[in-house]
Amino acid sequence: MIRKKHPSKPALSFFFFLSLKIFLDMGVAQNTTSTIPVNVGLVLDLDYLDANVSLSCINMALSDFYAAHGDYKTRLVLTTRDFKKDVVGAAAAALDLIKNVEVQAILGPTTSMQANFVIDLGEKAQVPIISFCATSPSLTSIRSSYFFRAIHNDSTQVNAISALVQAFGWREAVPIYIDNEYGEGIIPYLTDALQAVDARVPYRSVISSSATDDQIVKELYKLMTMQTRVFIVHMYRSLGTRLFTKAEEIGMMSEGYVWIMTDGLTADFLTSPNPSVIDTIQGVLGIKPYVPRTKELESFRVRWKRNFLQDNPNSIDADLNIYGLWAYDATTALAMAVEKAGTTNFGFQKANVSSNSSTDLATLGISLNGPHLLEAISNTSFKGLTGDYLFVDGQLPSPVFQIVNVNGNGGREIGFWTSTEGLVRKLNPRINKLRNSTSASGISTVIFPGDITSVPKGWETPTNGKKLKIGVPVKDGFSEFVAVTEDPSSNTTKVTGYCIDVFDAVVKALPYALPYEYIPFAKPDGKPAGTYNDLVYQVYSKNYDAVVGDITIVFNRSLYIDYTLPFTESGVSMIVPIADNNSKNAWVFMKPLTWDLWVSSFCFFVFIGFVVWFLEHRVNEDFRGSASDQAGTSFWFSFSTMVFAQRERVVSNLSRAVIIIWCFVVLILTQSYTASLTSLLTVQQLQPTVTDVHELIKNGKYVGYQKGSFVLEILLGLGFDNSKLLVYGSLEEWHDLFSKGSGNGGIAAAFDEVAYLKLFLSRYCSKYTMIDPTFKTGGFGFVKSLSNLGISISSMANKCIVSHVSFPFVTSGLP
Ligand SMILES: *[C@@H]1O[C@H](CO)[C@@H](O)[C@H](O)[C@H]1NC(C)=O
Ligand SMILES: *[C@@H]1O[C@H](CO)[C@@H](O)[C@H](O)[C@H]1NC(C)=O
Ligand SMILES: *[C@@H]1O[C@H](CO)[C@@H](O)[C@H](O)[C@H]1NC(C)=O
Ligand SMILES: *[C@@H]1O[C@H](CO)[C@@H](O)[C@H](O)[C@H]1NC(C)=O
Ligand SMILES: *[C@@H]1O[C@H](CO)[C@@H](O)[C@H](O)[C@H]1NC(C)=O
Ligand SMILES: *[C@@H]1O[C@H](CO)[C@@H](O)[C@H](O)[C@H]1NC(C)=O
Ligand SMILES: *[C@@H]1O[C@H](CO)[C@@H](O)[C@H](O)[C@H]1NC(C)=O
Ligand SMILES: *[C@@H]1O[C@H](CO)[C@@H](O)[C@H](O)[C@H]1NC(C)=O
Ligand SMILES: *[C@@H]1O[C@H](CO)[C@@H](O)[C@H](O)[C@H]1NC(C)=O
Ligand SMILES: *[C@@H]1O[C@H](CO)[C@@H](O)[C@H](O)[C@H]1NC(C)=O
Repeated sequence: MIRKKHPSKPALSFFFFLSLKIFLDMGVAQNTTSTIPVNVGLVLDLDYLDANVSLSCINMALSDFYAAHGDYKTRLVLTTRDFKKDVVGAAAAALDLIKNVEVQAILGPTTSMQANFVIDLGEKAQVPIISFCATSPSLTSIRSSYFFRAIHNDSTQVNAISALVQAFGWREAVPIYIDNEYGEGIIPYLTDALQAVDARVPYRSVISSSATDDQIVKELYKLMTMQTRVFIVHMYRSLGTRLFTKAEEIGMMSEGYVWIMTDGLTADFLTSPNPSVIDTIQGVLGIKPYVPRTKELESFRVRWKRNFLQDNPNSIDADLNIYGLWAYDATTALAMAVEKAGTTNFGFQKANVSSNSSTDLATLGISLNGPHLLEAISNTSFKGLTGDYLFVDGQLPSPVFQIVNVNGNGGREIGFWTSTEGLVRKLNPRINKLRNSTSASGISTVIFPGDITSVPKGWETPTNGKKLKIGVPVKDGFSEFVAVTEDPSSNTTKVTGYCIDVFDAVVKALPYALPYEYIPFAKPDGKPAGTYNDLVYQVYSKNYDAVVGDITIVFNRSLYIDYTLPFTESGVSMIVPIADNNSKNAWVFMKPLTWDLWVSSFCFFVFIGFVVWFLEHRVNEDFRGSASDQAGTSFWFSFSTMVFAQRERVVSNLSRAVIIIWCFVVLILTQSYTASLTSLLTVQQLQPTVTDVHELIKNGKYVGYQKGSFVLEILLGLGFDNSKLLVYGSLEEWHDLFSKGSGNGGIAAAFDEVAYLKLFLSRYCSKYTMIDPTFKTGGFGFVKSLSNLGISISSMANKCIVSHVSFPFVTSGLP
């Protein structure tokens, strides 16, 4: 058993009171006669400098702790086992500590791989295992209550990484990780977090911990040929150094590339920066847990440096790293818990000797104090060097992460990530409320590899990427939607049209490259190779990756292929010619009034003439004379009221009253007449010739539909006779059929997709009209395969269609 004493000697240059304190510390540490020693194992790999840093931190933690708590009855006694990098070595060391030294708890082991078996041992022997290095989230799955992770797990930092990816608008990222438990543990969490911010992981690059430089270079070249330029590196320092060195050699640390390091690598590279490594990783982003700069931490740093240099005079440039701080706090927590757990029983219950097995494992005893210690550690909470310290479910809660950007001689701290506020420049909740934390404006300017401050777009057109084969329909008419034109001189095919424009725009809006080529669905002689159903089927039989064109979204095709969202208005409708009902009718001026109104108006004129004559002829000179004069004057008077031109004076008050009422009636009559006639003559009375589908069927009219279209199925479904259906292949043919008229080899109505009808109307606007009964279909969409066959126009393209296509967007109501 090695007893680690506090190794510090007071130095002349040091402050007097501090010297005194350390002197007292030593005194306390030596007073073991009256205190109870508690054995604690320490499993470290002393070949690594980091382990020596941790070891010195643990020793300082003990001396600091018992200096401050001299009255505690227990004293931790460390037994260190060096296991030389080996997983089996770590297990053997732990077994030895439990069996032979009968330790109450074990601090260490340093890596996730070593921790795995040691945790099982601890569970069996009821000895708490406290690791301040093992970060792999997969260790949680062992579900040992005797395992304490005195460090955050790796899955806590994935949200910080995905927040960075989101803030800079990158849509794809490739993780590069070491192929062991440490590397692989984080990947499911990282993938999920990236997916949550709409970033894809198109490829995962696994590098063996024993990979040669050649293998690393080969893998890097492979990454170079792909389009993604955002890499997330998660591995140990030794492999990371080689990876970045090779990446720089082949030019991957230059403009356009983005590298993000997870916290392990960031801590490794930046705590005691090695100038040659720092030169290699200029512009790299990193993430590290944030430890607030407190007075205690600074004074500890100074004391630690003095101490460490005394023990390791050769390690001048060693620096206090984050693992040292975790180790310091973990030791303090353990010392506190051991005191709290009480001093009753530190013995081990021996395994029953009746057991026949001869291995050490079978005869492992059980720590009697284990359950008490377990509870005490779980309940420990204090303010440590790394901040508030407490275990939640055996782990430390997620810390705040600091974002660093490697620049010049080290890491420039450009911002923070907190789980509540996202990316922020300063940790000040009051100011941050006003900021926008999902955008890069939350953090300081980043200088990316290649010394650029503009944000790389995160992808490059791949040099050897596979081109998507996009099928396009071939037909003679309707070139507005898709037109395939051959250029015989150069043997090239040109594909144009509205649908093609939409697709090109969608691909342009994608945040990564999507190389593709159009392949006309035609026989060698240029004729269409089949109907639209046949074309769509080619996607199912994997001849094409997708189909772009005027493809209607209909239900029964979606059984074997998939559609994007529609990019045109949806529905099938009817179009009919319109006829002018009233033009060229000489008797149109009679139309405003019906014949009975004409007759009754005439009768009333006569009647009013008579009434006025009756009331006036006895008193009024104007209404005297011969009988014919009197009749003439009366009627003249009556009819001249029609235009309010009566000139005869009226003297009787009674007749004046009659005339006033009559004039009012005449006013209404003439005004109504004028208004109706005006509207008849000016507004064209255009009427569709047919308004009802059933009328067409009943009268046996001929109707038209487009060649090869699914509309045929709808028409047959409606009850049209097959012999009454005519096809057209272009706008001109369509118009021609209408001109001939039903019964003369033409049609009375035509059915088609609304998009075609609108096109037809835009050409022959004045002669036709669309009739309303619309059969719902899905509109036009792009076709892609149901399987995930490398086609990326799925959800991304749908978003682009919704936001970039100006057509009214209609959700498809599939039957
Ligand atoms: C050691 O501890 C005992 C009991 O706590 C105390 O009486 C004694 O003075 C201590 N000795 C030293 C050298 O501190
Ligand atoms: C760590 O310390 C031990 C002795 O305490 C020493 O033998 C070993 O060489 C040190 N390791 C390093 C990397 O300095
Ligand atoms: C030893 O055997 C006894 C009785 O068979 C049992 O109660 C006890 O739990 C066993 N101890 C161990 C460590 O298996
Ligand atoms: C131990 O081994 C002996 C022979 O090797 C066997 O007879 C005995 O039954 C075993 N006992 C137990 C408890 O397995
Ligand atoms: C630990 O905390 C639990 C609940 O908070 C409490 O019931 C228990 O007594 C505490 N144990 C110790 C040893 O403090
Ligand atoms: C990782 O730590 C966080 C915070 O303590 C916790 O919420 C999460 O469940 C842990 N994940 C795993 C896999 O242990
Ligand atoms: C936050 O950023 C997003 C995307 O960058 C933007 O759409 C949104 O309007 C911003 N909100 C505020 C309050 O600035
Ligand atoms: C065009 O293609 C045909 C057959 O594919 C070939 O016979 C002809 O030589 C080609 N013409 C040119 C100019 O490439
Ligand atoms: C879709 O319907 C048409 C006509 O009803 C039929 O010819 C075709 O085979 C159907 N396709 C599928 C996949 O059912
Ligand atoms: C004229 O319109 C009327 C209804 O206003 C209609 O009954 C008649 O059939 C139409 N005539 C022609 C030739 O379309």
